Amino acid sequence: MRVALKSGIYWVGAIDWNIRNFHGYSTHKGTTYNAYLVMGKKIALVDTVKAPFYGEMLERINHIIAPEEIEYLIVNHVEMDHSGSLPRIRETLPRIKILCSPRAEGELKEHYGDEIPLKVVKTGDVLELGGKTLTFVEVPMVHWPDSMVTYAKEDKVLLPNDAFGQHIAASERFDDELGWEVIHPELTKYYANIVMPYGPQVLKALEALKGIEVEVIGPSHGLIWRKYIPQLLATYEGWAKGETEEKALIVYDTMWGSTEKMAGAIYSGLTKEGIPTKMYRLTGSDMSDIVKELLEARALLLGTPTLNTGVFPSVAAFSTYVKGLRPKGRIAAVFGSYGWGKGATKTLTTDLQAAGMEVLEELQVKFVPFGEALDKCEGLGRRVAQRMRAS
Ligand code: FEO
Repeated sequence: MRVALKSGIYWVGAIDWNIRNFHGYSTHKGTTYNAYLVMGKKIALVDTVKAPFYGEMLERINHIIAPEEIEYLIVNHVEMDHSGSLPRIRETLPRIKILCSPRAEGELKEHYGDEIPLKVVKTGDVLELGGKTLTFVEVPMVHWPDSMVTYAKEDKVLLPNDAFGQHIAASERFDDELGWEVIHPELTKYYANIVMPYGPQVLKALEALKGIEVEVIGPSHGLIWRKYIPQLLATYEGWAKGETEEKALIVYDTMWGSTEKMAGAIYSGLTKEGIPTKMYRLTGSDMSDIVKELLEARALLLGTPTLNTGVFPSVAAFSTYVKGLRPKGRIAAVFGSYGWGKGATKTLTTDLQAAGMEVLEELQVKFVPFGEALDKCEGLGRRVAQRMRAS
């Protein structure tokens, strides 16, 4: 079955129903690798698919045209879920002309060898296909240095690769076929885990897009946007600006239940102040699901037991992940129990400060918290709540 975004622009991607771990990010609903054919008098393929899915892409192309008719391959982004079929494409079509951004030139050679012939295109460059005009705009660090978007002018179709993606495998191809309520949670998780560190670059890209009319957005993962574009752009803008909601997130792990008791008392403090709060124990939870919650939360309260004078391993993994994602502008507090050596909370404070958060307090309790110690935990929850309201 042909899937047309507009007349002469087709989806020829692949559906990965069974992927559950995408370089560490949990993909409970699978994903798609979206590639597109743009057919003027000449034909361009925009992006490819992850290498094992080459056959699926080729079959979809074959339903539309003979692959030999493709003259150009446009590489919007080098990461191998999109460029992975490039070597196979070159075997099938040895004379194909490959276009990429200036930053992608070196990266593609570093992935596939120096002999690969490339034509570099920069922001504003145009490829005339005859009846279809493609314009390229570099969007560095959304989310790799090489990233660019391709815009089909006559049809007002934007092909922005990873931007606006969601990891959803589905038989539906368009946003209106699944609905905003179904897509939004995966859009959120995707932004939180993939795009969050690059808010300023996203804002620049959104600014650049304001000058062009867009009727369809075909990202490289998930559903194609045609109905919810205004909501999509507004949502991305809010995230990129670091806008948060008056919600708190308590994330912790525990050895003998002490840090968990502290988490419970902190939760009481926050909720007694009326702050919607979610709690996750890291053992048994999924970090990429928690980070999805962090995208919209204004406060993070992170707790660790002290193990061998350091941070408990699951909490250390989480704070390292959060440090890389740089969810700036949130407020934070750290807490935990210890036996005879302190120090774990200091490490967490350093990580969260490096992530761009303001750490209000560290609270530690020796061995088991009860009585006054639990009151202090509840007080911490209350103070964070009051500070959230003031910010
Ligand atoms: Fe979907 Fe950055 O690759």
